[in-house]
Amino acid sequence: MIAESKNQSSENFRQDSDCAFDGKICSWQYAGMESIQVSPSLGKKEAYEALLPQIFALLEGESDLIANLANIAAALKQGMGFFWVGFYLVKTPLFAKSKSPTPSQGELVLGPFQGPVACTRIPHGKGVCGQAWAQEKVLIVPDVDQFPGHIACSSASKSEIVLPFYLQPDFEGETRKVMGVLDADSDRLAAFDAIDELYLTRILARLCK
Ligand code: SME
Repeated sequence: MIAESKNQSSENFRQDSDCAFDGKICSWQYAGMESIQVSPSLGKKEAYEALLPQIFALLEGESDLIANLANIAAALKQGMGFFWVGFYLVKTPLFAKSKSPTPSQGELVLGPFQGPVACTRIPHGKGVCGQAWAQEKVLIVPDVDQFPGHIACSSASKSEIVLPFYLQPDFEGETRKVMGVLDADSDRLAAFDAIDELYLTRILARLCK
């Protein structure tokens, strides 16, 4: 893309020299989207409708997983106002212990997130995140104190939604594998419902396509 003059009146335009890398990164700025824009007056569904195209634009043309997870977390925090939102990624040991009767499935390790500091490792089947991974299903928890084994990273967190996302198989017949989970927490009870599940699932589908 040709650089616009810095004297151009529109603040949506910047010189390429202002960008650390290449035109692709600048295209985000050329589009005038330097920050996520979701009006606080919108209802939840409308907020997601406004936010999703902005997230998809962020993902466009970028294949690096960590970069995309980081921007999704930032966009969801800013656009939806979650108390905490981020990713845990499945990490398996490089070398299985030779005498172990059951090879370790690995554990969830903290990835890109926005919000207060959080627990770094969650075993398979533990907490809401470990359960969503083990069951390979979306878990909506209206009251975390009622969820057996809930892992409290912050006492301010009252409800949460956790969605697994998948590494798609390369070959027909192979089964998909959980790559990680998206966890969103609220400081309000029962903050999450089918609307969150629908739109967050759409974001993860775009991430994994
Ligand atoms: N509550 C989660 C742990 C992660 S934090 O909430 C960020 C759980 O029970 O798995």
